[in-house]
Amino acid sequence: MAGTVVVGATAHAIGTTDSTTRMRRGTREPMPTVTFGPIEVEFDGDLLTPRPWTIEQSRWAIAVSSSVPDGPILELCSGAGHIGLVAALETGRSIVQVDDVAVACACARANALAVGIDADVRCAPIEDAIGADERFPLIIADPPYVPSTETSGHAGDPGHAIDGGADGLAVARRCVAAARRSVADGGAVIVQLGGDDQARRLAAESGFSRSEVRSFGPDRALLLLREPVPAADRA
Ligand SMILES: C[S@@+](CC[C@H](N)C(=O)[O-])C[C@H]1O[C@@H](n2cnc3c(N)ncnc32)[C@H](O)[C@@H]1O
Repeated sequence: MAGTVVVGATAHAIGTTDSTTRMRRGTREPMPTVTFGPIEVEFDGDLLTPRPWTIEQSRWAIAVSSSVPDGPILELCSGAGHIGLVAALETGRSIVQVDDVAVACACARANALAVGIDADVRCAPIEDAIGADERFPLIIADPPYVPSTETSGHAGDPGHAIDGGADGLAVARRCVAAARRSVADGGAVIVQLGGDDQARRLAAESGFSRSEVRSFGPDRALLLLREPVPAADRA
């Protein structure tokens, strides 16, 4: 995937998604792309196909942006980077994107380049990607959240992108722990999860004192977290 670039990013209404196929630049190989809000997203067959409903995470991040301090967005488990890129594009914030799969990072870089955003894409596990002194006012995370025993019901989706361990929250917990360390004072965190139940369980153990859940169907939810509780005050 290195060296491929999405061309012709155009403005679309947020929320529309159409599949198209382009040719990889300099080759005759087809390159799958979808329209995701205002951007055209290149992804790869080894990645999760961008899901239209997840534009809601971009939208919430855009809305929350006006209530947090200035500074970059951190996107954890970015995949091809589209959720964070829409938020960066619409808010004018810079963005750091983290994924531990090389092809995801290559797509994220290409997608950022195509819309003129100089994204800092870090190809590393969550814990290794963020410096101890770095702080982010707006953090979004889209971890794998399907319980391991249920991944067989998602044939065709790459296991690493969807397998969230025994209760589906293994990687989400790592994202929240990283967010607690890295969120700026007055900042906010928005995590994508596999439904209300997961969101409420994660909120309860998150170590943040304010939370809000938005549900988008039985297995789709977003969790907003604010105000991390200092480690010394946690039970
Ligand atoms: C549910 S997918 C989301 C990707 C993208 N946001 C999307 O909507 O297609 C989860 C992503 O997390 C990445 N991932 C899983 N475990 C990770 C880890 N420990 N550190 C960094 N990235 C991880 C996977 O490579 C995958 O791209």
